[in-house]
Amino acid sequence: MSKYTYTMGKEVDLKGEQDKTLDTPVMPANPVLRMMYVMMDLVYGKARTLPKFKVIEVLARYPYWAWERGGYARVTRLFCRSCGPRQDDVDLALRHIDMGRHDQDNEQWHLMLIDDIMRQQGIKQDWFRSVLLPRLMAWNYLILTEILYRLNPAWSFAMNARFESHAEHEYMHLVLAHPEWENEPVESVVFSHYPKQDTLANLFRRIGLDERDHMNESREEYERLTGRELV
Ligand SMILES: [Fe+2]
Ligand SMILES: [Fe+2]
Repeated sequence: MSKYTYTMGKEVDLKGEQDKTLDTPVMPANPVLRMMYVMMDLVYGKARTLPKFKVIEVLARYPYWAWERGGYARVTRLFCRSCGPRQDDVDLALRHIDMGRHDQDNEQWHLMLIDDIMRQQGIKQDWFRSVLLPRLMAWNYLILTEILYRLNPAWSFAMNARFESHAEHEYMHLVLAHPEWENEPVESVVFSHYPKQDTLANLFRRIGLDERDHMNESREEYERLTGRELV
């Protein structure tokens, strides 16, 4: 039985969960992530803005894609050898494929929701910040996450847990900085894929909680692979 509590698909007190996040320290970032955050602050500013969160969501999908692709590559290796697959290796591959597919979709809905809300609010950006830079960062993060997983899956889960902890706290602080969102209704075509929320504040709290679930999944898998707790 897992020591972690997951919130996706459950009725939860979103405001209470936001308070829990704000009372919990963010996991320390590794040097690669620290560099990434500094660069994002330089280009998009220190303030928590929707364009900045959109870039976080563009990047957030890549570790999951690496797990899915890495899991499929493992299946090929396991089933194309003369001695046949060991069941625990098959279980590991299937677990990484499943986590990768599920969480990748969840990050995709976050990206599409934020993009839709930015359009509704008339937020526009220049070509450098909205087109060129996100694509360059995505390309680099794709390569980095792919290499990390193939070298050692535990390193990929550790980095992702740190990234998701940062995202969870950023979303909860974003809501805190916008008290006017408490009464602002939200509507989006993306709610055909994602649980409908009544206000902008609750939508971003729900997204922040998704990030907490992602962090916990990554921590749990890191512990399963290494037998050590991630600190
Ligand atoms: Fe996300
Ligand atoms: Fe996430």
